[in-house]
Amino acid sequence: MSFTVDILPAFADNYIYLVSDRDIGLAMVVDAGDANVVLKALKEKDLHLSLILNTHHHKDHVGGNDKLQRETGAPIIGPEKERARINNMSRSVSNGDSVTFSTLHGQVIEVHGHTSGHIAFYFPQIKALFCGDTLFSLGCGRLFEGTAAEMWASLTALRKLPDDTLVYCGHEYTEANAKFALAIDKNNAALKARAAEAAALRKAGKPTLPTLLGVEKQANPFLRVDQPEFLQALAKSGLALQGTDPAAIFGSIRSAKDRYGET
Ligand SMILES: [Fe+2]
Repeated sequence: MSFTVDILPAFADNYIYLVSDRDIGLAMVVDAGDANVVLKALKEKDLHLSLILNTHHHKDHVGGNDKLQRETGAPIIGPEKERARINNMSRSVSNGDSVTFSTLHGQVIEVHGHTSGHIAFYFPQIKALFCGDTLFSLGCGRLFEGTAAEMWASLTALRKLPDDTLVYCGHEYTEANAKFALAIDKNNAALKARAAEAAALRKAGKPTLPTLLGVEKQANPFLRVDQPEFLQALAKSGLALQGTDPAAIFGSIRSAKDRYGET
């Protein structure tokens, strides 16, 4: 079994993920916002596209679907709860469903919050999680259609996956996320190390993704709102909290981040 995950940058800061089985020359794509980027990669790598996966309906994640389907015939699989908002889905999936590409089997995890029907795909055989705009390295997605409680539940579901899971996020936001994370948790050694690593990778012109879930569990403030060490750091940061339960604390830091910067 030999699979490759190629990271295809698109637009200002999106990543499209191309998973390929080079033995049989087939590929699947996750969140093809720009068809031309994907078609170019397929041609260069001499691959045929056999599946399109979508995590949510935002245009920068599904904008390439129509052209890719026209040119390759690949079926589109996306979230059942966003069926009305994604054109030409061949199949829609919900929590616990599975998707198949070559010999890989992916599990669908519903992760509402950024949008009302957002899903993630977890492929245990290659330890890969494609989570769209739900979990970012050192951050999380904005709450466009869901509540803080929904997003916290989604992040808790992802946090249950193994530490060696490779997290493939929808955007390159790590450096911006690191600034906010360090402002509220400035003595966290894992966070400082990850921020330094991300800065070095960006300086070298490389993606900061995938990120290791085990690192995110220690460094990402949005995964740590129920952990005493983080709460102590948060208290020292002076950030005002609206409530004491994890979902409320999560909501407080998500709103503070909305005010803080672009991601
Ligand atoms: Fe999005």
